[in-house]
Amino acid sequence: MNAGHEVIDRIAELGRHSESPDHYTRTYLTPAHQAAANQIAQWMREAGMSVRVDAIGSVIGRYEGSTEQTLLMGSHFDSVRNGGKYDGVLGILVPIACVAELHRRGERLPVAIEIAAFADEEGARFQTSFLASRAMVGRLEAAVLERRDGDGVTLADAMRSAGLDPAKVAPSRIDPSKLAAYLEVHIEQGPVLLNAGRPLGVVTSIAAGNRHLLKVIGEAGHAGTVPMAIRRDALTAAAEMVLAIEKRCSAGGSLVGTVGVLRVKDGTGNVIPGEVEFTVDIRAADGETQAAGARDALAACDAIAKRRGVKLERTMTHEVQAVPCAPWLQDEIARSIERQGIEAMRLPSGAGHDAMVLAEFTDAGMMFVRCGAGGVSHNPAETVSVEDAGLAVAALLDFLRHFRQDAPPRR
Ligand code: HGY
Ligand code: MN
Ligand code: MN
Repeated sequence: MNAGHEVIDRIAELGRHSESPDHYTRTYLTPAHQAAANQIAQWMREAGMSVRVDAIGSVIGRYEGSTEQTLLMGSHFDSVRNGGKYDGVLGILVPIACVAELHRRGERLPVAIEIAAFADEEGARFQTSFLASRAMVGRLEAAVLERRDGDGVTLADAMRSAGLDPAKVAPSRIDPSKLAAYLEVHIEQGPVLLNAGRPLGVVTSIAAGNRHLLKVIGEAGHAGTVPMAIRRDALTAAAEMVLAIEKRCSAGGSLVGTVGVLRVKDGTGNVIPGEVEFTVDIRAADGETQAAGARDALAACDAIAKRRGVKLERTMTHEVQAVPCAPWLQDEIARSIERQGIEAMRLPSGAGHDAMVLAEFTDAGMMFVRCGAGGVSHNPAETVSVEDAGLAVAALLDFLRHFRQDAPPRR
């Protein structure tokens, strides 16, 4: 079977490990998540890799090389709710297919290869973006372990129920000096490669972003007896804030803003909402644009709260600076793509990736694979063609075979 077919078949197989029979949702440490981890570990072993599970639950395969220096690759195997099956997983299965081919031919590289199947990147269950890659490099704040999911279960208790020990997370960080580089293969999650007619691309930089949780506190009341003029309706205030965020982030350029979750506390049809909380995700290609957009949007929310006589509490739950991908890695990835007879296109990433976390500790690069269905992602329609998956395997295998221990000095 050609590599592209195998990758796409395995994505379909992994996609069946979902919390819902109706759609694809796989959040951190649920039974579906643990079943997917076991399946990935098996494929890594079949590819000739030794496999370990780290303290946070990431599955890491290792293929020895002629030195201890390690080229780390990987991506995440958790998902958003009702998402697409390729986001994250493609960046685990393409490298596994490459190592399987090296193993079949008995080839060894000057560096060891590790593939990290990160257990949680989206943070859909505990609002913990980049949880697993942050844990791997020792950047996980202990307080995160106390975050609760929608059922009130803490992250630490979910770990214990899955046979993991939260106390082992901090000491289990890797030694970044052993890393030769980090390379992540990922679907583009946009239409740029599709519109340009290119199957593969080289990522130049990854967007800056932050996320806030806003809580609007008004006054609950009887839907039939409180005159409109004296209401302190938390939901209509929140609704005006959501539109103000959209307006500010529609100013053009790379700035984008999204409210993905909005919850009405004790929502009841005949009660004026007293308390509402919602998430705010604001990003831009550069830090300055992102910071200005977030500052203005949140200031608009403060002004609306004041005018409407409601209280506004806000907590920042996530923040990442814009990350440039290492130029030498961009060039190496571009050369590998071009050796497949494809003109390499360079483009920025609006989506966040684990590469942003690893880039603090080693040179990081990303290869994008074309998204079909108009470039849609975080949506069940997300798709990648067998041919493009096969080209990604071929280009990555070429990258591995040309990877040089003596590449430009690391930081
Ligand atoms: O939100 C993101 O950009 C990524 O999908 N976690
Ligand atoms: Mn995603
Ligand atoms: Mn992703």
